[in-house]
Amino acid sequence: MTLIEEDSQGEVPRHVAIIMDGNGRWARNRGKPRLFGHHKGVENVRRVVDAAKEADVPYLTLYAFSVENQNRPKDEVTGLMRLLREFLKKEIRNMVKDGVRLRTIGDVAGLPEYAQKIVEEAVEKTKSNDSWNLTLALNYGSRQETLNAIRVYAEKISSGKASPKELNWDTFSSYLYTAELPDPDLIIRTSGEHRLSNFLLLQAAYAEIYVTPDPWPEFTADKFHLALQDYASRERRYGKTGEQIRLKSSISETPVSV
Ligand code: IPE
Ligand code: IPE
Ligand code: MG
Repeated sequence: MTLIEEDSQGEVPRHVAIIMDGNGRWARNRGKPRLFGHHKGVENVRRVVDAAKEADVPYLTLYAFSVENQNRPKDEVTGLMRLLREFLKKEIRNMVKDGVRLRTIGDVAGLPEYAQKIVEEAVEKTKSNDSWNLTLALNYGSRQETLNAIRVYAEKISSGKASPKELNWDTFSSYLYTAELPDPDLIIRTSGEHRLSNFLLLQAAYAEIYVTPDPWPEFTADKFHLALQDYASRERRYGKTGEQIRLKSSISETPVSV
């Protein structure tokens, strides 16, 4: 991957990443426990996956659980892990049937063993699929991902298998959890907060950001389509001028690499 990818100028984003926020508040506003909101949130995943497929978005990444979410009350964390297990149990067969390739980003080894097992099974059973790409961010943190990449790379240097002089973005990004994924074109955050919460900080360098006040359980297929419409109306300039971007010839210029 080049330092800044400029090839994604289409009307439909190639990669949409969603910060699925607001389950807890949605439930609390209805006088229900937070886990009820998470339950509804999981049900919504299926709807949005279908909407993304229908819209021909080939890569969808869902922020399901952050490293920092581990600091929530124990029963909420356990509830989330059980929901993850139930979701995957139900969906493995559909993913295999529909040609969906499931990937994960994050420190899966930091999940409880029963969750790890089902995650590994789903990844393994779908690894030769190539019709569509679903990625779950599980126990994910962008800073932790970066440190992990640096650690692995530094070990290569100390064993003489890599040289710091040759370090460029292509090399570095190949050590990130997202090595096989294109950068996100569109990041959607539900429930109104204007922040990234440690999600894809490096990969989001030129992502378009869309924040909706709708909490995740109410983020319907129609709302997803609205986000895509908004994306289609944006002009991605990658540091250039609008005039340059509108001149087709500038699109084929080689981006600067370091
Ligand atoms: C998102 O909803 C799901 C996870 C972070 C696991 P929240 O649980 O963060 O919901 P709010 O933000 O408290 O409403
Ligand atoms: C981000 O939401 C993480 C996920 C959606 C999984 P949070 O609810 O954890 O983010 P903050 O704490 O409001 O920044
Ligand atoms: Mg939240």
